[in-house]
Amino acid sequence: MTPASPEPTILTPTGDALDGAARALRAGRLVAFPTETVYGLGADATDDAAVVRIYALKRRPRFNPLIAHVADADAARSLVEVDARAASLMARFWPGPLTLVLPRRPECPVSLLAADGLPTLAVRQPAHPVALALLRAFGGPLVAPSANRSGRVSPTTAAHVAAEFGGTPLAILDGGPCAIGVESTVVDLSGPVATLLRPGAVTRDALVACIGRLDAPTATDRPRSPGQLESHYAPSLPVRLDATAARPGEALLAFGPVDTAGYSEVFWLSRDGHPGEAAARLFAGLRALDRDAFCAIAVSPIPETGLGEALNDRLRRAAADRERESPGVPAGGVI
Ligand code: TXA
Ligand code: MG
Repeated sequence: MTPASPEPTILTPTGDALDGAARALRAGRLVAFPTETVYGLGADATDDAAVVRIYALKRRPRFNPLIAHVADADAARSLVEVDARAASLMARFWPGPLTLVLPRRPECPVSLLAADGLPTLAVRQPAHPVALALLRAFGGPLVAPSANRSGRVSPTTAAHVAAEFGGTPLAILDGGPCAIGVESTVVDLSGPVATLLRPGAVTRDALVACIGRLDAPTATDRPRSPGQLESHYAPSLPVRLDATAARPGEALLAFGPVDTAGYSEVFWLSRDGHPGEAAARLFAGLRALDRDAFCAIAVSPIPETGLGEALNDRLRRAAADRERESPGVPAGGVI
């Protein structure tokens, strides 16, 4: 399982490859794997050294906590306190693109480094068959942030992961392109009021229909999700939102029946204006257009409804001014 070359190795997820990946994880190594949202960079959640390796490889601020991925709801119940709201959400949306932040149980074996010593832990049961097979083969919780360097665009193919971590001997299980394409919805249920920390494919309306009430996080909510770091999902080129006419040298991320005249290149998020299709193609599109040949990436307007909230959230952060905030070099230091 240890790749001989110092480069990432993309593996077809056969039974043997999954067993090898589980052994590598038990030995404290990192394994990248597909989920239905984006690719994750997995480590044994109970192994301090492996967790530190994730932060180091991603160059991620240590105050930014990780999600513990579990094989089923019972596994989540052994880690965190599941109240009635959480039970309803788990029953309705798991396995799937919903992460719940809940109080840690006293006996929770997940490394405290994974959540910067917080009394809470984020848990999610992913729906991708390869992710579930890996979790079952490993037999415990896996922490897995998106498999990109901190602050950069999340990966939705195995090749994206390999491109992020060139020069690193990392095993990557190939599950094809991710069907959803934006990271899971994150809901904080650790207090009396449920708050939406990160919009995703489980929409605000779907959450409210299930648990009745959902607030926006306040400025004092800790920790800040990277979704709350202003500049994130950042390509190298500037990003211009709500573009309705071309400027010289721009490439376009196009959505719906828009006029593409004058752009140097066009990447269609969705010709029909379908938010689900656009989400699945968003990060691939940002990567495809992020080239020196252009001076900026323009983006067509996208309605804020349903999955549009998650799309616009990621696009606003991709467009945010990087001078003011540099998530890759945080004040809190990197481990
Ligand atoms: O779809 C996804 O969630 C992907 C796949 C791989 O599962 N993972 C992912 O992980 O996006 P990451 O680390 O890139 O994002 C985790 C999000 C961050 O916004 C983080 O701040 C938040 O979850 N989070 C994790 N633990 C938390 C906690 N205890 N309290 C509040 N927010 C938390
Ligand atoms: Mg991420």
